[in-house]
Amino acid sequence: MATSLDWSVIRQTLLETSHRTKLYNVSYWDKEVNSVNKNMAKLSGLTEYQVKTLPISPEVNVLDVGAGTGRLTLPIAKQVRHVTALEPSKNMLSVLQENARQQQIFNINYLNESLENVNTAAQYDLVVASFSLFMSDLENSLLKMDKLASMGVYLFMSASPWIDEGIQTAVYGTSNQWSDFILTYNILHDVGIIANVETCTYTFEECYPTLTDAAEAFIQKYSLPTEKRSPLIEYLRANLACEYGGYYYKRKMKAATIWWTKDK
Ligand SMILES: C[S@@+](CC[C@H](N)C(=O)[O-])C[C@H]1O[C@@H](n2cnc3c(N)ncnc32)[C@H](O)[C@@H]1O
Repeated sequence: MATSLDWSVIRQTLLETSHRTKLYNVSYWDKEVNSVNKNMAKLSGLTEYQVKTLPISPEVNVLDVGAGTGRLTLPIAKQVRHVTALEPSKNMLSVLQENARQQQIFNINYLNESLENVNTAAQYDLVVASFSLFMSDLENSLLKMDKLASMGVYLFMSASPWIDEGIQTAVYGTSNQWSDFILTYNILHDVGIIANVETCTYTFEECYPTLTDAAEAFIQKYSLPTEKRSPLIEYLRANLACEYGGYYYKRKMKAATIWWTKDK
């Protein structure tokens, strides 16, 4: 007998079992501001790819949902009429404002809100959300972004599993393969939006002074059980390159662009 799947419920269960619900609190992002800001330089290749993907031109106005410290907001603002940077974290927003000031970019307005609190009376040509779909009710958030956009919606997200597969196996004995992109695509499908998808590959790199520092960073990031510290350190010892007095972690990852346009 055929049964229907509720992808929003599946997503909620997977987020809870992978200990990711902390990412749904603004206080988490307030604390992450320095690492998000540092990633702007590390992810410059991915940023260039993302900006090229967008149908932007000097007439367009853009809503950047979850703008962070401006990795996408700033290069987009240089090519369009106006950007609204929507960002619930005060810390992120103040670093973004400072980054824009340093680059002499003045066509951005700043909204210290979460998407859930945005009034749908506003209209933007394009709505962009880059690695920022941390809404507990994703289905309604996607519908809201659709309503806010007159030209189209562009979403960027991970197409790789949340936890590095090697680390998952070292800590839990197995690894799971689900990623944000497949859940989001299916939730869109459930609400009648058949979107386009493209994937690209990028490398995430980080350097840690010691193996213990690396292990602590992964325990924090992925909420790993602390009693698994020893197998984790052994895995990191075998897999991180020890160079120039530091331990280098490199993860080849996939990102997905999911987009739809509003051509009637
Ligand atoms: C990983 S950062 C991404 C920043 C930037 N868009 C980028 O691609 O580098 C995620 C951002 O989403 C924001 N965010 C989290 N929940 C949100 C929500 N409900 N509405 C809007 N933004 C949200 C966070 O505050 C954070 O700044």
